[in-house]
Amino acid sequence: MTFMAEISNTIQQRQSTRVRFDPNHKVSKESLMQILEATRWAPTAHNMQNFEVIVVDDKDVLKDLGEIKSRVSKIFIRENFLQLSFSEEELLRKRVGILGTNFPADWRDPAKLEEAARKSVERPLKERINSCPTLLIVIYDPGKRAPASVGDVLGFISLGCVMENIWLTAQSLGISVHILSVFSGTKVERETKKLLGIPKHMRIAFAVRLGYPVSKPVKHLRVRREVEVFAHHNRFGDNVFC
Ligand SMILES: Cc1cc2nc3c(=O)[nH]c(=O)nc-3n(C[C@H](O)[C@H](O)[C@H](O)COP(=O)(O)O)c2cc1C
Repeated sequence: MTFMAEISNTIQQRQSTRVRFDPNHKVSKESLMQILEATRWAPTAHNMQNFEVIVVDDKDVLKDLGEIKSRVSKIFIRENFLQLSFSEEELLRKRVGILGTNFPADWRDPAKLEEAARKSVERPLKERINSCPTLLIVIYDPGKRAPASVGDVLGFISLGCVMENIWLTAQSLGISVHILSVFSGTKVERETKKLLGIPKHMRIAFAVRLGYPVSKPVKHLRVRREVEVFAHHNRFGDNVFC
């Protein structure tokens, strides 16, 4: 395979793996170092390198993190509904968003969304992280802002570059990845910071569950818009690529 074909293949094969990982199948130190080396070389605005990574692979620490509880917010349930497709045909037509069958029935019925939000209870994170041998917590210093970056948008883009470097490297090493945004939300972030001794002024951007699935991940429909839908030529709306 040519180098270009390998890169293209890695980019296209990269995907979210939400199934349980084998807690006893460790991510080797060598692989971790390769992932961290790729993180190191991520582009960041003004080369601010506004990130730090906490590698959590101690079973007791993972267990403690797993005890933190989170509750799905009303706004998440409401806005999640707007991204759902209700059949594979619909998703194939839209090519954006996700399949509703991944979510509880209440979350798919517009008449029941408010009730689903009211009924949603706090659940420990262990359901998501107990099985993983390694969790990366990516944190950032909001004070390390690129010059004149209003709303620190360049800082957030930089953290996205960090995420992609981690993800593609893990993918090329055969390590599965599951991003957990839940760590960047108020309560979970606060408790995680306390548990891991993260300095007050730093924020959590996201966490990455790394590992090897216990079962073959169920094949799910992955859709993307076609190039001619999002690429414009010289002028918005003009397209000569198709
Ligand atoms: C910034 C960001 C945050 C994400 N947060 C989550 C998350 O909290 N939970 C989750 O299961 N997937 C999360 N994902 C994964 C996306 O849902 C996923 O990339 C998208 O649906 C496309 O699917 P694919 O990764 O399998 O190609 C996140 C991805 C990104 C880029």
